Amino acid sequence: MHTLYFDLRDTKGQQKTIEDNISAAARLLRDGALVAIPTETVYGLGANGLDEAAVRRIFQAKGRPQDNPLILHLTGPQWLPRYCREIPPMAYVLARKFWPGPLTMILKRSGLVPDVTTAGLDTVAVRCPNHLVTLAILREAGVPVAAPSANLSGRPSCTSAQDVLEDMDGRIEGVVDGGPCVVGVESTILDLTCEPPRLLRPGGLPVEELERLIGPIAVDRAVIGTLAEGEKPKAPGMKYRHYAPKAPVTVVTGAPAKSAQEIKRRVGVHSGVICFDEYVRLFPDQVVHAIGPVEDKLAQAQRVFEALRTFDNSPVTEIYTQCPDGRGLGLAVGNRLKKAAGFHVVEADSEKIILGLTGGTGAGKSSALAVLRKLGAVVLDCDQVYHQMLAEDEEMQKEVSRAFPGVFRPDGTLDRRKLGQEVFMKKEQLEKLNAIVYRFLVPEIQRQLAAAENGVCAIDAVNLLESGLDEDCDRTVAITSPTELRVRRIMARDQITEQYARMRITAQKPDEYYRGKCSCELNNDADTAEEFQKTAERFFKRLIRSVREEKQNRKI
Ligand code: TXA
Ligand code: MG
Repeated sequence: MHTLYFDLRDTKGQQKTIEDNISAAARLLRDGALVAIPTETVYGLGANGLDEAAVRRIFQAKGRPQDNPLILHLTGPQWLPRYCREIPPMAYVLARKFWPGPLTMILKRSGLVPDVTTAGLDTVAVRCPNHLVTLAILREAGVPVAAPSANLSGRPSCTSAQDVLEDMDGRIEGVVDGGPCVVGVESTILDLTCEPPRLLRPGGLPVEELERLIGPIAVDRAVIGTLAEGEKPKAPGMKYRHYAPKAPVTVVTGAPAKSAQEIKRRVGVHSGVICFDEYVRLFPDQVVHAIGPVEDKLAQAQRVFEALRTFDNSPVTEIYTQCPDGRGLGLAVGNRLKKAAGFHVVEADSEKIILGLTGGTGAGKSSALAVLRKLGAVVLDCDQVYHQMLAEDEEMQKEVSRAFPGVFRPDGTLDRRKLGQEVFMKKEQLEKLNAIVYRFLVPEIQRQLAAAENGVCAIDAVNLLESGLDEDCDRTVAITSPTELRVRRIMARDQITEQYARMRITAQKPDEYYRGKCSCELNNDADTAEEFQKTAERFFKRLIRSVREEKQNRKI
């Protein structure tokens, strides 16, 4: 079979061609052909939903189990009374607010809908897709279009016409290219035949938005995990292994910095990684698909299927993926990843406890770190790592010398005094240097954290808060101390005058700054080093115990 390709990516083009293409696709559908259509969520494999023979061919083309019903695509709520019965008023409330859009409603079906379409169920799934081209095709065809996602059964859904052709070329009569899907994950399925309404599949419309309009929604168990042997999900499709690339997938959940470290610890050269943009640098030796910044769940939704798909073209033997939290679109993205993994999920918030220490000079940071070392912690000294990187990391050297020409001597070594002068008391220059440093230092510290054994790790960083490293920590500790004590300590330690000691302290951020931004404070007002050590030991033991308990509780 030859698959016709209709290019409708640019709807501002020649009006005549557009109309001809839409008519041709609509005619094919009316005549019982299979045509893949674009929607805002994923591409659908459409057929006339009232035509039994056509609908049967959908199942064949996809290799889809017969007991998995299809969604009927409509032009709007005005078609509901034809294909549904006993429609609750809430359906219209929802349709008015969210249609056209990524919401599928399950309602009682009318006698017009054939058994094949609903796989014999007494209910039918209906939705109105938010895509101008497909709405025009539906209007012109004048029939509801049954359309599952246009992938081969079991494969990740298609978010571009190219994906569709990869799976369906030669199996269907036509593909309408309407550009890449703007949502990227399938519609949210809400069952309105029960009370309260039940979420059967998280999708492109966040549950929070639904609840804001209609109040609490029950969540079907199939959404959260695999079902017990013999247990039947309400959406039959939820029981199948789905979206799966050829290589087995492991989802690593937890705070992004933690899951990135956990993945780093597990990967080898044949591993593939799906991660947030911020962590790509951690995996220079792996095949990596970035699915967008941590905070941008829409980008993650748009890219998740493509990421899962393209691994099949690279020789990876296993895939690890980070996972967004369950708020907003994160629930749908996480659900697709977990389904691809057959719900093989690893929790990254593990036994590793990360403490970040910060504070001004002379407050007692070094003594506190010595105590932590004694308690068995691995200590990462950011200042030391920074100097080592300046001496060894060529990429970083290049960036620094581009921003501060002449700070490297002809023999390639760094002139630290010169660099110091360039940024001393010059706020903008210092910010420029810091921006470069953070970009290189943060991933390096994260790498070292990932490599560390389970147990307590302490990061020592003056700029813990500014660099963003605080986000990797279970707790951040401000080490503070009364100014007079600090003056005396640094005079003795660095053999400097009182005046110079005071100047150094005032050049730094005050204790209030650290106190306000850290999760806890260790105040050093002890007269002797021994006394402070004892206080610090008690403090850290208590802190570590509380973090451990918190992690235990979270696991339950
Ligand atoms: O975004 C979407 O919904 C896309 C685009 C093409 O519209 N379509 C889609 O269809 O994802 P499909 O067939 O891949 O997934 C439909 C899901 C299946 O899990 C199916 O079991 C469930 O909807 N479903 C269909 N009719 C149902 C019904 N009457 N009761 C419960 N679940 C139903
Ligand atoms: Mg599907």
